Amino acid sequence: MRFVRFVVKEKEQTMTTDYRTKPIVTMEHIVKEFATGDGAFRALDDVSLTIDQGEMVAIMGPSGSGKSTLMTLIGLLDTPTSGRYTLDGVDVSSLSRQAQAQVRNQKLGFVFQNFNLLPRLSVLHNVELPLVYARVDGRARRARAQAALEVVGLGHKLDSLPTTLSGGQKQRVAIARALVHNPAIILADEPTGALDTKTGTEIMALFRDLNRTQGRTIIVVTHDAEIGQCMDRVIGLRDGKLTDNVLSDYYGGEVFARRERENVPVKVAA
Ligand SMILES: Nc1ncnc2c1ncn2[C@@H]1O[C@H](COP(=O)(O)OP(=O)(O)O)[C@@H](O)[C@H]1O
Ligand SMILES: [Mg+2]
Repeated sequence: MRFVRFVVKEKEQTMTTDYRTKPIVTMEHIVKEFATGDGAFRALDDVSLTIDQGEMVAIMGPSGSGKSTLMTLIGLLDTPTSGRYTLDGVDVSSLSRQAQAQVRNQKLGFVFQNFNLLPRLSVLHNVELPLVYARVDGRARRARAQAALEVVGLGHKLDSLPTTLSGGQKQRVAIARALVHNPAIILADEPTGALDTKTGTEIMALFRDLNRTQGRTIIVVTHDAEIGQCMDRVIGLRDGKLTDNVLSDYYGGEVFARRERENVPVKVAA
């Protein structure tokens, strides 16, 4: 495994972050077609990409460009029409659907735009759910769910019902649920889409914190330019194809050039 050290200058401060350059998601020539009334529609067209362990990346692009389709493939919720997908060193494209589901439950945590909480279950029980499916016993389940809720700042809301929470709090519960089985990757499709700007910024700060302090790989779909700017990297999509320099598309060449200057690799250790 190689370690690459980047120095990011922020105002007067110099901050150092280690990026482990071990690929966790590798997609090679992925095509996804959907059957429609007038033949096959190609939603992803020869997509090849690599995401490293510990990266925090955005997938950006206009509506209908294939962002959610790409997320469902990365999340093993659907299979590509063709192409190869390697997840954490395993060629998952050759696994059975059942084996894929097992990998999904172990390695992936999901966060959605509309939270997808069960309204009749308490906050604690919502967060326990992935552990129920994983057959973790009751006491360990509660302890882990409580710990995850403390990480997202909701240790005082264990017995509340989701309907009594604000949007930002609901998304925090959903993030705790995504974290509770200790996944390597968190996949979030428009996680701030239903939130006001200030709350959205707080949720993105929480993702960044999980990325920095726990080393979690985080993949966020967004069409929010502000969010894209806070990422380690942006993967651009348009009409199902990867686009280069998506940051310059969104923010103009000047911002892109500044980001390039600030992410200066200073050391590559073997
Ligand atoms: N199940 C489906 N059947 C047919 N077409 C689909 C299906 N899912 C997505 N599409 C089409 O694929 C394209 C990309 O969709 P999507 O990935 O949801 O885009 P985005 O998330 O970027 O808005 C759209 O044109 C959409 O209509
Ligand atoms: Mg979408």
